[in-house]
Amino acid sequence: MTRKGILLAGGTGSRLWPITLGVSKQLLPIYDKPMVYYPLSVLMLAGIREIAIITTPEDQPQFQRLLGDGSQWGVSFTWVIQESPDGLAQAYLLTRDFLGGAPSAMVLGDNIFFGHGLPEMLARAGAQGAGGTVFGYHVSDPERYGVAAFDANGRVTQIIEKPKVPPSSFAITGLYFLDGRAPDIAAHIKPSPRGELEIVDLLEHYRAEGSLQVERMGRGFAWLDTGTPGSLLEAGNFVRTLQDRQGMQVGSPDEIAFRQGWIDHNGLQTRAKIFGKSSYGAHLTSVLKE
Ligand code: DAU
Repeated sequence: MTRKGILLAGGTGSRLWPITLGVSKQLLPIYDKPMVYYPLSVLMLAGIREIAIITTPEDQPQFQRLLGDGSQWGVSFTWVIQESPDGLAQAYLLTRDFLGGAPSAMVLGDNIFFGHGLPEMLARAGAQGAGGTVFGYHVSDPERYGVAAFDANGRVTQIIEKPKVPPSSFAITGLYFLDGRAPDIAAHIKPSPRGELEIVDLLEHYRAEGSLQVERMGRGFAWLDTGTPGSLLEAGNFVRTLQDRQGMQVGSPDEIAFRQGWIDHNGLQTRAKIFGKSSYGAHLTSVLKE
């Protein structure tokens, strides 16, 4: 069965600022495009064309206005509501019908990935049959994330959510490739002490049965954080530096759709016109001229 995508777009409840913005964090720009474009691009780079987008009821219209039905990129979006943020693993219960037994790749709406070899890494994870693949990334503050514990042979022995004393510096990023059993397994998870269906409990199930691959993302990758005002600004600066220096885009669904052959020359031209004289529009025009 073809792998389907889940974009957990999130909602207005953001812990970024001491005020309510009234807008979902994932709609804010990271430099020159909305945050949610970056994780969406990752699913598209993985070759995934059927994507469920999960939002809060209040935020769904804003996301819909931005992203539409996906046809502009040759993909299709199915809109799914999460009434309250009851945990990342709940996403698999909400998308059970959409998935219809298919394997999935889920990405969090505030996770930004960049790196040489990313398409190959995604292709490897996507080609996996039974089981799951997640990605470990070396960070200086693992206590803020799900963290992998390793034994002497480098095998993962546990995945722990926000451990006070982290067993390693490898955080588990917000990108999860799981097989078609994920909704069934998620259905057996009990809420954690903080009242959430934890993604780590779902991953622990796969790990315990020996079917979870933890791929380490090396130094050549950037996994960017948007959880604090400072890290949000840094992510924007990072994207700007890369794009200005290389003259290439990070996280452009338009360019990816074109290179995947999901939209043709005319389709990309229409999009380039919408973005007009902005740097994003100019880049799309330059892709057309290549
Ligand atoms: O970013 C990677 C980390 O994401 C992982 O290392 C952790 O294991 C995982 O639990 C998660 O940690 P966070 O503390 O970042 O999760 P947070 O509650 O902030 O939610 C992440 C995103 O998902 C955020 O954009 C809001 C959205 N969300 C979250 C929950 C709990 C939902 O849309 N629905 C939810 O129920």
